[in-house]
Amino acid sequence: MSTPHLEGNKGDYAEIVLMPGDPLRAEFIAENYLIGAECVNNIRGMLGYTGIYKGVRVSVQASGMGMPSMGIYSYELFNFFDVQSIIRIGTAGGIDDSVQLRDILLGQASCTNSNYAQQYQLSGTYAPIASFRLLRKASETAEKLNLNVRVGNLYCSDTFYDDSPSLKQWQKMGVLGIEMESAALYMNAARAGKEALCICTVSDCPLRNESTSADERQVGFTNMMELALETAVQL
Ligand code: HPA
Repeated sequence: MSTPHLEGNKGDYAEIVLMPGDPLRAEFIAENYLIGAECVNNIRGMLGYTGIYKGVRVSVQASGMGMPSMGIYSYELFNFFDVQSIIRIGTAGGIDDSVQLRDILLGQASCTNSNYAQQYQLSGTYAPIASFRLLRKASETAEKLNLNVRVGNLYCSDTFYDDSPSLKQWQKMGVLGIEMESAALYMNAARAGKEALCICTVSDCPLRNESTSADERQVGFTNMMELALETAVQL
């Protein structure tokens, strides 16, 4: 059985899947953290692997960038491959004044400018939220690992290059960071009765014109990856 975008067979994915946006990050995790990792997807170069971390079967599948791409891959994993939990591991722009470069954000909820929820034909505004079980486990794990994490709201945007000065408005509402995938992931999880969490490393602070170097992003990514893997094996 394959799907339009994933070539694996049922059973090729673990119950828990980590999702970086970048396929090369998926490859990096498989090569550096998973024992016996096997490549389970290479359609469109959107790499996916399954292997063992500390005795637990874990998969890592790239999501690509933006809600439509995350929407496709997370939908197929939840609905066609019996995946139970997805933890996105990505980058975010820091929005709140207190957020610093390299901080790790746990997305308790996800505001969005996207119309993704329209498909559900609800008579109001849907509030996409993380699984409390995953969020609590990640928060406890971060404490044990001595990582500085912030828990709060994300703003999931359809645009990276935006013509409006809307970030200041989101800042006024206490939103911690901006990224582009969490809302679709949370809505797909809710609709499928599954669990999801978005963990992001702050790679830039657009309102302060600050950004990290490629090397710093790698270190930040490593901390986040270890947090996600350690969370995954305790579920
Ligand atoms: N905007 C949107 N997504 C992002 C950003 C940003 O500034 N930084 C990292 N992901």
